[in-house]
Amino acid sequence: MNFKKYETPEKLRGHYYTDSQLASFLTRWVLETQPNSILEPGCGDGIFIESIAHLLKKPNKLKSIIGFEIEPNEAEKARKRYTALKGVKANIYTKDFLGWSLLNFFNKPLFDGVLGNPPFIRYQYLEDFIQERAEKIFNLFNLKFTKHTNAWVPFVVSSIAMLRPGGRLAMVVPSEILHVPHAESLRLFLTAQCSKILIFDPEELWFDNVLQGTVLLLTEKKINKNDDCRGVAIIPTKDRSFLNENANKYFEKANYVNGKILRGKKWMRGLLTSHERNILDAVSNNPDVFLFDQVAGVDVGIVTGANKFFLVSDSIVSEFGLEQWAYPMFGRSEHVRGLIYDKKNHNENRKLGLPTNFLWLKEEVDELPASVRNYIQLGEKQELHKRYKCRIRNPWYCVPSVYVSSVGMLKRCHYFPRLIYNKAKAFTTDTAYRIKTTRGIAIEKLVFAFVNSLTSLSSELEGRHYGGGVLELVPSEIERVIIPMPKIAIDLRRLDHDFRKGVSPEELLINQDELLLKAIGLSKQDRQVLFSAWNRLRKRRQRVRNK
Ligand SMILES: C[S@@+](CC[C@H](N)C(=O)[O-])C[C@H]1O[C@@H](n2cnc3c(N)ncnc32)[C@H](O)[C@@H]1O
Repeated sequence: MNFKKYETPEKLRGHYYTDSQLASFLTRWVLETQPNSILEPGCGDGIFIESIAHLLKKPNKLKSIIGFEIEPNEAEKARKRYTALKGVKANIYTKDFLGWSLLNFFNKPLFDGVLGNPPFIRYQYLEDFIQERAEKIFNLFNLKFTKHTNAWVPFVVSSIAMLRPGGRLAMVVPSEILHVPHAESLRLFLTAQCSKILIFDPEELWFDNVLQGTVLLLTEKKINKNDDCRGVAIIPTKDRSFLNENANKYFEKANYVNGKILRGKKWMRGLLTSHERNILDAVSNNPDVFLFDQVAGVDVGIVTGANKFFLVSDSIVSEFGLEQWAYPMFGRSEHVRGLIYDKKNHNENRKLGLPTNFLWLKEEVDELPASVRNYIQLGEKQELHKRYKCRIRNPWYCVPSVYVSSVGMLKRCHYFPRLIYNKAKAFTTDTAYRIKTTRGIAIEKLVFAFVNSLTSLSSELEGRHYGGGVLELVPSEIERVIIPMPKIAIDLRRLDHDFRKGVSPEELLINQDELLLKAIGLSKQDRQVLFSAWNRLRKRRQRVRNK
C-alpha cells in the first residue's frame, strides 16, 4: 500500500515535463490544420505554448489558446512564455481543468486542437473535490468509472469531449493506455469519438525518475458521429529520429487495426504485426487450443490481511508454540523455482528459514494456550486487528476461505507466467491464485502445457504491467489466455528439472514449442514468429530508461 504522505510533490502533482523536441513534434501536427483555438490542460511551465510560438507561421488563423495549471508558480511561467505570441489571445487559468471542463461541456467552447501531457496522479492521491469531478466526467459520458483510475484518464476524456469534429489531439500519455483495466472506458471512448488513433511507442523511457513508460497519442475527432473508426495503429520507435519527421505522414499511412482490437478489452494486439496476428488467430481456432477457462477454474488465494503475521518461519512457530495451527504454504517465486512444489522443496524452504507456515487459528481466544494468545496480542499491539480485512471477521485472526488447490499460479512474473503443481498440498495466499482443472484434464498435463510461446504471448496480450516491468494477470485475464493441449506424452519432472537447473526462459519456451506447438501442426517458421512476438513484447515491458 502506498500512502500520500510518503510521496514526492512531483508525484502528487503528476509533474513530469515534456522536452521541446517532443512538444514541437506534436505541436507541428496540430498546427497543420490551421486551428482557430487550442486547449492545453495541465500546461505546467508552458512548453507547448512556447512550441506554438516558435512554430506558428504567418498567416495563421490561431485566435486563442486556453491553458490550465493548478500550480500558481508554474502557471505564471507559462503566462510569460506566451508573450511571444503576438495577436493570439492566451488565457492561462490557475485552476483545476476537470472542474472547468465539467462546467463548460455544454457551453460548447469547442477547440480545434488539444496539446499536452496530462498529469499522472493516482486517484487515491487526488483531492476529494477533484476525485468527485473525475467521477462526474465518467458518468456524464456514460463511461464505467473505477477508483483505480488515474488523473490522466479523465483529462483525456474531457479533452476529447471538448474537441470540435475533425479537430486534432496530440498528447504524451502513459503507455498503460494500451492495457490497464482502468483505462478501458477511455479506450472505448476514443474509438467511439475518433476516426483514427495513432500511437508512437518508444523503445526507451523518456522521463527521469518515472518508471512508467509513455507513448504519444495522436487522434482526430470524427466529423460525423456515425462514421466508423478506422482503428488503432501503434508504431514502435527505436530512437528519437522520427521526431524530426512529419507526423501526418505516419497518421495517413499507418496500418490501422480494427475488428478484434476495437471489440476487445485492450489494445495490446496493436503491438503485433499483421502476420503475427494472422498466425495467432489461426492457431486460436485450432481444435487442440483452448481458452484457459475451458480447461480450468481460477480463484484468488487466501486473503490474510496481514501476511507478515499469518505467514511465518519455523522459528516463530516454535517460539510461540504454534505447531498445531501451522500449515505448509508457499507464496513467492523464490520458494518454487520449478513447476512442482513437493515435500522436498518445502523442507528445503524450511531449512532456509523462509515463511513456510500459514497460521490457521479458528478457536476463540480463551480456548487457546497462553503462548498463542501472546502471539495474537503481539499482532494487536501492531494494530493488525484494525486493518480492514481483519476487522471485518470475527475473531480477527481467523482467516476465511482456507482451502488447498492442486495447482497454483503466482500473480506476477518477470518472463512468463507458470503454473505450479502443488504436490505438497500447501496453502497459497494472495500472491498466488488457486487453480483447479476441469473436464477431467490431468494436472500434470495442464502445468506442462502452460509453458510455451503461444500461451506466453497470449499472457502478454491479456495481462497488465506497471512501472518496473513485472507482468500481472488477474483471474478474468487468465481465463482469456490460450493454451495448446495436444494429445502427446509429457514429462513434467524433466521440465521442472530444467527450470530448477536454470535453463534460460527463452530456451525453455523454444523446447516446449518444439513439443507442443509442433504437435498442433504449427510449422517451424510459425513457431518462431510466435516466440519472437512474445520476446519483443516481453522486452518492451521490461524496458529501461536509455538516455
Ligand atoms: C505531466 S505535467 C505536464 C506539464 C506540461 N504540459 C508539459 O508537458 O511539460 C502535468 C501538469 O498538470 C498540472 N496539474 C495537475 N493537476 C491539475 C489539475 N487538476 N488541473 C490543471 N492542472 C493540473 C501539474 O501541476 C503539472 O504541471
